Amino acid sequence: MDDLSKLFRNLEVSKMKNRILIGVIAGGLSSEREISLKTGKNINDSLLRSGYNTLFIDFMDIDTGKLKKIDRAFLALHGRYGEDGTVQGILELMKIPYTGSGVLSSAMVIDKILSKRIMRYEGLPTPDFTEVRSGKNMDSLKPDLKHISLIVRKEIGYPVVIKPNREGSTIGITKACNEEELYKGLEVAIKYDGRVLVEKFIKGREITVGIIGREPVPLPIVEIIPRNGFFSYECKYIKNMTEYIVPAVIEPDIGKSIIDMSLKSHKALCCNGISRVDLIIDENNDVHILEVNTMPGMTGTSLVPMAARAAGISFDLLVEIILDCTGLEN
Ligand SMILES: Nc1ncnc2c1ncn2[C@@H]1O[C@H](COP(=O)(O)OP(=O)(O)O)[C@@H](O)[C@H]1O
Ligand SMILES: [Mg+2]
Repeated sequence: MDDLSKLFRNLEVSKMKNRILIGVIAGGLSSEREISLKTGKNINDSLLRSGYNTLFIDFMDIDTGKLKKIDRAFLALHGRYGEDGTVQGILELMKIPYTGSGVLSSAMVIDKILSKRIMRYEGLPTPDFTEVRSGKNMDSLKPDLKHISLIVRKEIGYPVVIKPNREGSTIGITKACNEEELYKGLEVAIKYDGRVLVEKFIKGREITVGIIGREPVPLPIVEIIPRNGFFSYECKYIKNMTEYIVPAVIEPDIGKSIIDMSLKSHKALCCNGISRVDLIIDENNDVHILEVNTMPGMTGTSLVPMAARAAGISFDLLVEIILDCTGLEN
């Protein structure tokens, strides 16, 4: 395995560490608030270890007074109001450079349906899908159910996965093998989002690719083997619920194509500094992209830090690499 740390030896940001105050913004209002607080604390501790001055800002008590004090923002938010371009918009207006992707990219990538349309346009493989729009309750959807069911059966085929369009951490996601389960799944998903994605279920090996740096560098591929078959919320955050293999054992030509399509997705969706691409290799060795994340978790069990470690990049260096990619879109 290559030692990738040498690519990041002279980070510009390291030279100014005594002169800048970094605001670590975490918490957020989404269903992933708890995860975000963990990510934020890890990042804050790491920046302090590396000799930076920080101000930890819980999103709940964010105000322009606090923001005016900081020179740069390290965003550790997941889901809506944070990973979706809204906070990025405030920081753009205040001219405070922030980590990660810009307004447009963040808003685009959190929208799973829109991202899939862009991937399709770019020739990137992503499972067949259909979009369901509802008024956030099952009653308004009732007249359309038969039609949706027909499309799912004819154009996608069971089993399918039903997902709220803009959630993370597997929240609100279910699998359906028939019409009855489809309806149940829609009922669950529309509680979280008025737009729902119904996608072909792909049986296979689940993998993920982290991408970091100003010039995007792919990290080693991680294979995820959840105990219960589905990479659920519990499997993501409770230790020993999932086995991880890094670097994943994959035939070199398939590995290369996975890296190529992950980099292409990162670029097509205009990501900056860091992203993580979730994919599945099916039983015929065909690869399918599930989604891209612009603010992947940085908790003790998170995937990007795990992949970075396998490539010789410590957690503290990873945090500095992300910080080095701070910028403004305008
Ligand atoms: N089309 C699919 N086929 C098989 N499993 C899926 C599919 N879509 C999602 N999953 C499972 O659900 C998990 C979460 O889905 P994902 O699209 O990555 O959303 P998020 O991570 O934002 O909640 C995946 O890691 C995978 O285990
Ligand atoms: Mg995912």
